[in-house]
Amino acid sequence: MSKKNQDSATIMVIFGGTGDLTHRKLMPALYNLVIDNLLPRNFAVVAIGRREKTDEQYRNEVFASINNYSRNRVEAKYWNKLKDIIFYRKFDFTDMSGYKTLSETLGNLCGKFHAGYESTECNRIFYLAVSPQYFETIVHGLEVSGLAKNNKSWVRLVIEKPFGEDLITAKKLNRKLLEVFSENDIYRIDHYLGKEMIQNILVLRFCNSVFESLWNNKYIDNIQISLCEKNGIGTRGEYYEKSGAMRDMVQNHIVQILSLVAMEPPVNLETDSIRTEKLKVVQAIEDFTPELLRNNVVFGQYGKGFIDGVQVPGYREEERVSPVSNTETFVALKLHINNFRWAGTPFYIRTGKRLGIASSEIVVQFKSLPNILYFKDKDHLQEPNLLVIRIQPNVGVFFQFNTRDFNSYNNIVSTKMDASQINRSSGNTPEAYERLIYDILRGDATLFSRWDEVEASWKFADKIIEYGGKKDFNFPNYDAGSMGPVKAFELLARDGREWINI
Ligand code: BG6
Repeated sequence: MSKKNQDSATIMVIFGGTGDLTHRKLMPALYNLVIDNLLPRNFAVVAIGRREKTDEQYRNEVFASINNYSRNRVEAKYWNKLKDIIFYRKFDFTDMSGYKTLSETLGNLCGKFHAGYESTECNRIFYLAVSPQYFETIVHGLEVSGLAKNNKSWVRLVIEKPFGEDLITAKKLNRKLLEVFSENDIYRIDHYLGKEMIQNILVLRFCNSVFESLWNNKYIDNIQISLCEKNGIGTRGEYYEKSGAMRDMVQNHIVQILSLVAMEPPVNLETDSIRTEKLKVVQAIEDFTPELLRNNVVFGQYGKGFIDGVQVPGYREEERVSPVSNTETFVALKLHINNFRWAGTPFYIRTGKRLGIASSEIVVQFKSLPNILYFKDKDHLQEPNLLVIRIQPNVGVFFQFNTRDFNSYNNIVSTKMDASQINRSSGNTPEAYERLIYDILRGDATLFSRWDEVEASWKFADKIIEYGGKKDFNFPNYDAGSMGPVKAFELLARDGREWINI
């Protein structure tokens, strides 16, 4: 990027400016980037929504959201810096004339930053924080209005999930995007990749000989990835009915985590080197034959129950959900990665809504040593070494190992070393969206998904979704507040293992 490009102003246009994502995540993230002085010197945000509002009204709403959701409290000196660069424009995404007006708005704003320069001198980010049905329409609007091309500066497209509903629709969407933008300018968001401990996976693996040298099927018994939520689906019934846990969590977040945990060391830390290694993991997932689908996949849906002592309705009673819905709110899977590093080591995956605990963790269980010197008279193996990468609400690393018990002559106890801290909902670790927006501004796409990764993950997910669609699971099959269907426990028990919750 030329010096001029770096110095030139940037305008971020948010489609879906009045939506939940913008208020809960994007605006608080921008506010924290102001505090950390990480926004470009000349920066503006144009939020687009369908409702009529003045800039002033919109700014007041944003202020309230930042107050509610920012990890740092609102201070006038920072808020004033952000407030004045936020603008609101009303238009209907389906109305092509709106894009022309938007183009004029951007031109005028750009003129403000660059006296004497042309209105196309500003870099542009188009952030699609809207329902997926509008993705193609908006991209088309950007194309025909000429907004998607900017000979003088860069233009980047940021697209939220879900990226398609299956492989076919994802391909169609991708074709449309590629007609207008180049792959390098498309930032497919998977917000899990912006989380502190997800970024830390590569550092833990590739900066610690003690882990990396043991990171394979010879020493690791199994790996568990659990993304458990206490939350239900709230007001998102309409979306969730079509999505279910497979599309909502597995196809994207879980596949991304799995790739980072299982990938080979990249040749360097360049975006494409990392993405290429991640891709190979997904491509190496053992194909789910009908037998494996039957034995290694568990679907669930919550019935009513209690979360933290409060009664909550079952999924079928939620707003905008069919009373006979067969959408899964829980998935547990066992899978194998068929390569030299991982053949024989199972990966267990679990995600669900309305579970008894809210926690996202990766548990690496090392093989236990034989009971030759110790535990000779015991019928169970010694406690395994565990490395737990705690994503949330605790953030950090937990390690379990065996030592002598100081208080007795012979006992051996498992010692738990916890180098994690509670997130202040989290601690003061930057929120995922701060990191992601910062990277979009810098043009670093490492934490975003490349098309071939998305494609491979849909190939994997589609088969399981198709299986789920055909089967009658007799829902609901777990109570809200429990840890999922009985079959999810049997999945591990069958292998002589159990889910580990730290
Ligand atoms: C989103 C899903 O992608 O991730 C939600 O659509 C889910 O259903 C959320 O609740 C979980 O993200 P986080 O950051 O709260 O763990």
